[in-house]
Amino acid sequence: VDVVNADFVKSSVKTEECPADGAPEFALVGRSNVGKSSLLNSLVRRKRLALTSKKPGKTQCINHFRINDSWYLVDLPGYGFAAAPHEVRTDWAKFTKDYFLNRPTLVSVFLLIDASIPAKKIDLEYASWLGQNEIPMTLVFTKCDKRKKKKNGGKRPEENVRDFQELIRDFFKSTPPWIMTSSVTNQGRDEILLHMSQLRNY
Ligand code: GTP
Ligand code: MG
Repeated sequence: VDVVNADFVKSSVKTEECPADGAPEFALVGRSNVGKSSLLNSLVRRKRLALTSKKPGKTQCINHFRINDSWYLVDLPGYGFAAAPHEVRTDWAKFTKDYFLNRPTLVSVFLLIDASIPAKKIDLEYASWLGQNEIPMTLVFTKCDKRKKKKNGGKRPEENVRDFQELIRDFFKSTPPWIMTSSVTNQGRDEILLHMSQLRNY
């Protein structure tokens, strides 16, 4: 299940532009700055395969990375980031929703949630949208290494995770699988790769 090689393939802004070889893929989605690109780098053990940034909004396209010449990891733009004050917040770009709904090779969406802070309304909205549209989903809690209690609303990652799961319970027919991770300590890395390999062989 380990990653032997990983190559950037292409950036697309439309579903039709995405690779057409039929290989299975997993998309990383979540709020801007939640750590999508960092998680991707941690999964493939490369520091800068997907570009990361302290500033939100770094990833702007549908980016396909080919893993072990047989499947794809897909880095998507984050949601919930307004480029300028008062600007309508950059929504899940139209192409992202279209991609979720019209990409048969998409095995599961990996929705990333920051476990170091309490649940955000926008994350609940997107979880709800995925549930309503019956898009297969795995929950990935990020930044589980951050435990500065006071700064982060007084709760530990484990508590934020439990709260979030409680809040989304009614959005799904069955509880989505979930994994706690950190791109700093690589917590959850092997668990994600194993889960992805199980989903591919399903
Ligand atoms: P966009 O592309 O802008 O949507 O952001 P992104 O979701 O790809 O986030 P990115 O991986 O660029 O990470 C954003 C910031 O969070 C960076 O400063 C990372 O170093 C930091 N970060 C990401 N993952 C973790 C983690 O597991 N733990 C800690 N402590 N920081 C993290
Ligand atoms: Mg990114």
